[in-house]
Amino acid sequence: MKRSHNCNELRKSDIGTTVSLAGWVDRRRDLGGVIFVDLRDKYGKTQVVFDPEHSQEVHTLADNLRNEFVIHIKGVVKSRPEGMENPKLDTGEIDVMVDELKILNKAETPPLTINEYKEIARENDDVRLRYRYLDLRRPWIQRNIILKSKFLGAVHAFFRENQFEEIETPVLCKSTPEGARDYLVPSRVNPGKFYALPQSPQQYKQLLMLAGFDRYYQIAKCFRDEDLRADRQPEFTQIDVEMSFVEQDDIMDMFDKFVREVLAKTWEFESPEKIERITYADAMLKYGSDKPDLRFDVPINDVSDIVKESDFGVFKNVVETGGVVRGIAAPGCVDFTRKQIDDLTSYVGRYGAKGMVWMRVKEGGEVESQVGKFFTTEQLNALRDATGAQAGDMMLFIAGPEKLAATATGELRLEVARMKGLNADKGYKFVWVTDFPMFEFSETEGRYVSMHHPFTAPKPEYLKQMLSGELKGCLAQAYDLVLNGVEIGGGSVRIHDPEVQAKVFGLLGLSPEQVENQFGFFVDAFKYGAPPHGGLALGLDRVVATMEGVESIRDFIAFPKNTSASSPMDHSPSEVDPMQLHDIHITLSLNTKK
Ligand code: AMO
Repeated sequence: MKRSHNCNELRKSDIGTTVSLAGWVDRRRDLGGVIFVDLRDKYGKTQVVFDPEHSQEVHTLADNLRNEFVIHIKGVVKSRPEGMENPKLDTGEIDVMVDELKILNKAETPPLTINEYKEIARENDDVRLRYRYLDLRRPWIQRNIILKSKFLGAVHAFFRENQFEEIETPVLCKSTPEGARDYLVPSRVNPGKFYALPQSPQQYKQLLMLAGFDRYYQIAKCFRDEDLRADRQPEFTQIDVEMSFVEQDDIMDMFDKFVREVLAKTWEFESPEKIERITYADAMLKYGSDKPDLRFDVPINDVSDIVKESDFGVFKNVVETGGVVRGIAAPGCVDFTRKQIDDLTSYVGRYGAKGMVWMRVKEGGEVESQVGKFFTTEQLNALRDATGAQAGDMMLFIAGPEKLAATATGELRLEVARMKGLNADKGYKFVWVTDFPMFEFSETEGRYVSMHHPFTAPKPEYLKQMLSGELKGCLAQAYDLVLNGVEIGGGSVRIHDPEVQAKVFGLLGLSPEQVENQFGFFVDAFKYGAPPHGGLALGLDRVVATMEGVESIRDFIAFPKNTSASSPMDHSPSEVDPMQLHDIHITLSLNTKK
């Protein structure tokens, strides 16, 4: 069943040649007795023609063809009759008059319409995942998977050219605390003991630096048992990197180069020599988010000092009780209707905002608002100047405790951008967010937890404060790479002093026994000469999805899980044979009551 060409190869210059093609029947049309079939393979489509006047026998056989049959044909390339060309197909100027047809396999009517375009081909997600092998036949999704594969080729080339070694790390390993739950694997030969699937190769890559490999990278599978969203899968892939004898800037510079040389070349855009860098504190203040979308210029402004002098009780009270008032100038939104304003108010309510105050900036700069009477003209003008609002804009304000006001105003900023299409088709905007807090207080756990992970080094100027146990306000040498408002990567400079590392574990609430038990081997390793080192991991699936302007990373993973972390195709996870459980020393005690 050899093919002479693929289904996207034949052109006018091939007219008259005898060719053989194989693929799937994408579409079959019967026009006045002549059967036209679009034959599809990974490369594209070619129209093949079964004409009874050319061969009655082949035409009779072709009458049985249905969508998704797998066939092999032999025939002669012909020019399409004038007016019948299809400019949408690369092979649209020719067709193949078939002399021989072999049906390699029949197909039942597929539960998905494979030859339709993306917009109309979105069935229920579980149907797509149940028949994922058919979903994957769709050219647009096959293209996503192939694009990711090509991109990976460029990733490997980049790291190899830059003296990185590709080194595999174990998939059966000891648990690495990274914030999510581990997937556990019971050991048959070690009764009662479990491996964890890696949430990331963090500790191993650090040990590779200790071993002297200097520069490591790996396309690493990671597993996290966490709540799933469009941009999160229980198993996903990282482009994982670690470097020795470096400082934070060296790592970020390497990834600036990566963006320039790999992403910008794959997706054909211009990337600056240095990607913009902003601190976490600035990002939270100006954009209300640690993953700011900088494709549109709508900064947040703190107007607490202005409003606290006004007669507007709500704002005054909030500021007097330690809160803040933040606002944006929503560009060109002066004509927002009552309903649009109400919708926005309930939208920010989801992020805890108790309300939202609006002020219209009219022609000539005059400010008009329901609450205008509580402000002097000077105060209204000051608000206009502080937010940078122009005639035609709407000022929107949210008051509350700092974190809440920041986040709610950040979400408001994004929602206004979506409503006005401010971020549509604006290309790629990368930004580094640096100087993350070292710790954050977890209300659920009632203690401080690492904001990145416990191996992250504090900024040198905060080391003393941290060691004294004063965790609030300590900043870390940690950084995220953000693209169009999506966190595509994160990393840090690591602690390389075993005493500091042990101390950090203690500050996180681990007892000396727990440290010994969980990280003893790791802390020990650092006693034998650890180089300063640091690294970063990019979420491969997120990078490709975000570059493609798609929210769901599932469209770039061949066999993803659904939002309940299961696969409707192979029904995993599934019950197992009691003997299998017996072998691994496990007895189930399931609470079947809801
Ligand atoms: P972090 O936890 O920030 O860092 O992960 C790095 C990047 O991995 C991607 N990512 C995910 N992608 C899909 N589904 C998920 N569930 C998921 N979780 C994370 C994100 C994220 O930015 N060991 C550190 C890296 C380091 O310090 O070098 C780590 O794993 O794009």
